[in-house]
Amino acid sequence: MAILELRGLSKLFGRNAAVSDLDMAVEEGQIRGLIGPNGSGKTTVFNLITGFLRPSKGQVIWQGRDIANLPTYRITELGLARTFQLTALFKEINALQNVILSCHIHTGINLWQQFRKNRKTRRKEAAVEQRAMALLEFMGIADIANERAADLPHGHAAALGIANALATEPKIILLDEPVGGMNLTETAETMQRIKAVRDQGITILLVEHDMNAVMSTCDVLTCINFGHKIAEGTPQKVCQHPEVIKAYLGEEIDLCLA
Ligand SMILES: Nc1ncnc2c1ncn2[C@@H]1O[C@H](COP(=O)(O)OP(=O)(O)O)[C@@H](O)[C@H]1O
Ligand SMILES: [Mg+2]
Repeated sequence: MAILELRGLSKLFGRNAAVSDLDMAVEEGQIRGLIGPNGSGKTTVFNLITGFLRPSKGQVIWQGRDIANLPTYRITELGLARTFQLTALFKEINALQNVILSCHIHTGINLWQQFRKNRKTRRKEAAVEQRAMALLEFMGIADIANERAADLPHGHAAALGIANALATEPKIILLDEPVGGMNLTETAETMQRIKAVRDQGITILLVEHDMNAVMSTCDVLTCINFGHKIAEGTPQKVCQHPEVIKAYLGEEIDLCLA
């Protein structure tokens, strides 16, 4: 059973179709890769799924229900979380405070309560802090809890981005180029963390340019070009697909992994 299904999804910017009649079904518990050359529509697909953009046509079916026209906060409440292409952290506060802030969406502590700080709120706050710390531990970055987010190296910043996403108790996480700009070690660590998240039962939809990372992590790949799906299947099969090889010509990507 698909947990997330795109049906005939299209997005026009003026007369340009960034996404065109896209069908895709993501199974629960899967790591699905969405690949394609630069400008092929991957980020637009994420924006359509998470309510940052409205489709020109088509449906986004989440657990059997069309969510394409819901506001972003409702989509988050329904269990969809995302990270952004260039890690969007709250840069001026520390790592722990980042996750605490992200937790608040599920705890219902509002600013007025923060101000009054009655006993019940203080208890709730302590629980949130504990949960935030546990998430940093799970991502393997508890030791940087007190460091300013802006000062973190790529690998730690990405792990924090994922911890922020986990704080909203998602059923699926959409990751947009999580290893962009990382060295080999950071990349390997981040992909391990993503697998650990999936092992918790959370479905992953991954956009990534690093083909080695995609090949070693994803169960199924969907490749798009000019917003159209051109191939889908096992990573091995998709990477050898002639349309995919053609689409990637001229990109600085090594597709010859087999
Ligand atoms: N807000 C926007 N307004 C106009 N065109 C856009 C907008 N966002 C993306 N596009 C265009 O849509 C196409 C797909 O972009 P994008 O989804 O960012 O690709 P990818 O993430 O695969 O690199 C590109 O041609 C891009 O220029
Ligand atoms: Mg993109």
